[in-house]
Amino acid sequence: MAHIAPSILSADFTCLGKELSAVENAGADWIHIDVMDGRFVPNITYGPIIVQACKRVTSLPLDVHLMIEKPEAIIPDFAKAGADYISVHAETCPHLHRTLQQIRELGVKPGVALNPATPLSCIEYIADQLDFVLIMSVNPGFGGQKFIESSIEKIKALSDLLAKKNPFAIIQVDGGINADTIASVARAGASCFVAGSAIFNTPDYNDTIAALRLAAER
Ligand code: DX5
Ligand code: ZN
Repeated sequence: MAHIAPSILSADFTCLGKELSAVENAGADWIHIDVMDGRFVPNITYGPIIVQACKRVTSLPLDVHLMIEKPEAIIPDFAKAGADYISVHAETCPHLHRTLQQIRELGVKPGVALNPATPLSCIEYIADQLDFVLIMSVNPGFGGQKFIESSIEKIKALSDLLAKKNPFAIIQVDGGINADTIASVARAGASCFVAGSAIFNTPDYNDTIAALRLAAER
């Protein structure tokens, strides 16, 4: 089954609570929260207090995508704030195995995010340690960018790798996902789809999420 994960990066922050209820009522499965530090990526967003605020208004799982250097220092704060899933970028973690263990010990499901240029080989020997892999289909930092086509081939190769190493792991894709791009990434093996602008920049979240789900499950 497809999981649709609206990214609040494109939500209206003057009424975040209302936006969260709207996507929840429209059938969203997870809430994706993009944390950026202005160092690993050229943009700055929000931290644990926004995760805590989201936890108060939605019962959906909170999926925290850490685009930050030295994530291990602040992971406990995100766990305490109510994160259900936390992904760290392989590019920021010299001790990735240890960081995944840290996340799991805090009672949170760990995932690894990979930039478009990062090879799958960096997760080969830790694939059994993760609950999900996030394939970035844009360069992280901003919403509303164009989908990078080579992500499809990468997702196919990841499906093969996980079939051998960890068949229970979820493949998540993030960046440029909309009604036109979702079908091909679903066919390649992704089952969790992050979408920011394609959801929040439309007038009717019910219609949009239903259309995404239909295209993903076709
Ligand atoms: C990009 C973020 C994405 C972003 C996706 O760095 O990781 O989650 O919100 O935005 P769209 O869906 O607009 O490409
Ligand atoms: Zn993201």
